[in-house]
Amino acid sequence: MAGTLLVAGPARAAAPSTTVHPQLWPKASSPLPPDPALETRVKALLDRMSVEDKVGQMIQADIKYVTPEDVRQYRLGSILAGGNSGPDGGEYGTAAQWKKLADAFYRASLERSDGRPAIPVMFGIDAVHGHNNLVGSTLFPQNVGLGATRDPELLREIGKVTARELRASGINWTFAPTLTVPRDSRWGRAYEGYSENPKLVAEYAPQIVTGLEGAVGTPQFLDADHVIATAKHFLGDGGTRDGKDQGDAEVSEAVLRDVHGAGYPPAIRAGVQVVMVSFSSWNGVKMAGNKALITDVLKKRMGFDGIVLGDWNAHGQVPGCTNEDCAAAYNAGLDMLEAPDSWKGLYRNTLAEVKSGAIPMSRVDDAVTRILRVKMRLGMFNAGLPSQNPLARSSAQVIGSAAHRAVARRAVRESLVLLKNNHGLLPLDPHKRILVAGDGADNISKQNGGWTLTWQGTGLTNANFPGATSIWAGIDAQVRAAGGTAVLSVDGSYQQKPDAAIVVFGEDPYAEFQGDLPNLAYKPGNDHDLDLLRRLHGQGVPVVALFITGRPLWMNREINAADAFVVAWLPGSEGEGVADVLLRKRDGSIDYDFHGKLPYSWPRTAIQTPLNVGQPGYDPQFPYGYGLSYADHRELGTLPEQAGVALDDERAGVYFARGQAAHGFALQLTAANGESDTVSSAPSATGDGSLHLAALDYKAQEDARRLSWSAGGTATAALTSSSPLDLDRQTNGDVMLVATMRIDALSPQGATIGVTCGKSCGARIPIGSQLAALPRGQWLRVGIPLKCFRDAGADMSRLDRPFEWTSSRGERIAFTEVALGTVADKTLTCKAH
Ligand code: BGC
Ligand code: BGC
Repeated sequence: MAGTLLVAGPARAAAPSTTVHPQLWPKASSPLPPDPALETRVKALLDRMSVEDKVGQMIQADIKYVTPEDVRQYRLGSILAGGNSGPDGGEYGTAAQWKKLADAFYRASLERSDGRPAIPVMFGIDAVHGHNNLVGSTLFPQNVGLGATRDPELLREIGKVTARELRASGINWTFAPTLTVPRDSRWGRAYEGYSENPKLVAEYAPQIVTGLEGAVGTPQFLDADHVIATAKHFLGDGGTRDGKDQGDAEVSEAVLRDVHGAGYPPAIRAGVQVVMVSFSSWNGVKMAGNKALITDVLKKRMGFDGIVLGDWNAHGQVPGCTNEDCAAAYNAGLDMLEAPDSWKGLYRNTLAEVKSGAIPMSRVDDAVTRILRVKMRLGMFNAGLPSQNPLARSSAQVIGSAAHRAVARRAVRESLVLLKNNHGLLPLDPHKRILVAGDGADNISKQNGGWTLTWQGTGLTNANFPGATSIWAGIDAQVRAAGGTAVLSVDGSYQQKPDAAIVVFGEDPYAEFQGDLPNLAYKPGNDHDLDLLRRLHGQGVPVVALFITGRPLWMNREINAADAFVVAWLPGSEGEGVADVLLRKRDGSIDYDFHGKLPYSWPRTAIQTPLNVGQPGYDPQFPYGYGLSYADHRELGTLPEQAGVALDDERAGVYFARGQAAHGFALQLTAANGESDTVSSAPSATGDGSLHLAALDYKAQEDARRLSWSAGGTATAALTSSSPLDLDRQTNGDVMLVATMRIDALSPQGATIGVTCGKSCGARIPIGSQLAALPRGQWLRVGIPLKCFRDAGADMSRLDRPFEWTSSRGERIAFTEVALGTVADKTLTCKAH
């Protein structure tokens, strides 16, 4: 194995080099024939633009923070809808609402009366598994599942359908495909990648790009049925140390090129028009400031002539920059910066920097030339209103159509990976009695994972997915049609003993930040699913485990507890695809066999990371490429059950759970006189009796704590962290502190919620009047955006108390959980009102 380029993992010794040798990178070039007429038109426009116009083109704002009037006034070149942004301030926009919004922005961009050119605005969105922000759309398996299909041609179909549904809702640009090559499954974005294998990513890249944009050299390329694609995140996003999101890829230049860069030359050759730069660093250098990789490698060596786009405020992480000011990113070669909420400040500062020459005019002209070129290639200058696109005019027939859903259902079938099938339990006979259990059985949100309607994919019910089918619904329909009996029982209880049980369980939705794990243990501290499998198995019911997940996780105990084990990944909206494969046909024959092969290596322990095919000493539980079919009569013996870690609760971002401080945190009470005590049991109280703590039941015995303030002045209950927490990036990403709590009585003085960052550093936000409007005696998730604390002066990079609640006499409240999150029943605003 020595000398193989696939070694990314443990061998990270030598001093990391940040020198780039462009001549050692693959050469690529735009596949489009030179178009002098187009370039002349671009030049002519450029010549008529003011400096202000040019700077406007180089900035992208989020629809939550920008109005059509802003776009008109600042001549902004593009807008995006981030994961939490939708039309009319909501998350559940219909096609009609999206079209109206797109029209409004488009119209505003064309309004102009001073004789300078009006340039149509581009509208980008994360359509990463279908048009996943649109209610009723066709949702494909997340990329990890597509990796399992080993079917590049399918990717082209998926791209095509996604483009059609985007166009049908008035949108002409997606931030996809993700060409990351995740090398450590602890990374919460591993599911956004197709595979740990760069070859597979390179094979898929041109297919998905072609599906989205149409084939270069044909009249379909970027026509009204297609959209602009974005290859992301350049470069090394999947190679960060310990799988940390936005972390540092500590790898050699050769690994960066051959592993992480593998998808880019093929995507460029297929005509991809945008490349998004990664949040992450390479050997300590933030990608958004890496001129050698962006300008010398991507633009020059690889001949990329489209738009280089920055990720969501990622420029703010470049040394010396803020979200509102970053000449360094433009000078490194980024053409357009995503400045969702910071666009106005960025506009002002960038304009000043262009005027002062800190950003050379040649750089500005290169950026704007690229932006105009892409807009012209897409035909935007004579496209007309987004709602007038032919697909948009018949959106009801296009979005979530039967033909589109059939492609997704096929993708589900092809993506299922069979790890175990002892005594040939599968396929099941649909004439029998089949119990369908587990909290994933009838749970379309769980099937879809993150980047689904909401950013993290949380806070959804089946009602949010009109036209979609749960896994249960698919099984039920096919069993019933065959004359058998299917019974849904989430907890696995039954009256009549079933012939077999299908237990559907797995990871709950997550996206960036929220999905990172300290190790690969499946739900440490929560054996609920394992108990369910074991119980049914113990009752003599043959058990099929169907695992919903964004990545391989250590779960040998669950595999042992089942007779058959299927990995379903995150299959999307067409749950019936599962029944197609798991059940025989009515006549007993097999319609669809298992086809999927592992796109990532499956670990033998929870600490076997990183684990990638080709690595020295490679010894996974199931290797890359593993996957049984019905012809394999392999019996799997009992797997070892040593995880390699203690299986207690180590969910990242959870500070207080089930009424207890999480590992690494303590609950501290501070009395009116300033004396602090760490409390580990309840009941308890401060020395002066001003604050009492008692145990309380929420869903289980004593899984919550009640705080009561009595005599004295103000007293504080806080969660202290044993080591400083760095929540900078979460703050930037609009994450909240979410308390699951119950208000019984409020102090007339009003409570504050706060954080501290060491001695005399911190922030407290008065929330009394906002709490007053909430119901009493009811459990609620109350969230406060982290940025409230930052804006009030806290240094979010070193919190020693990520949560403190200060109040006084008369207040009685209870908590069961305090954690980072993005969904709440009530989101507090930063300012008291
Ligand atoms: C993500 C990108 C995404 C962008 C816009 C970022 O935080 O890293 O993948 O395209 O947000 O939503
Ligand atoms: C994400 C966006 C998301 C936002 C939440 C960012 O970090 O990339 O897509 O919408 O946070 O406001």
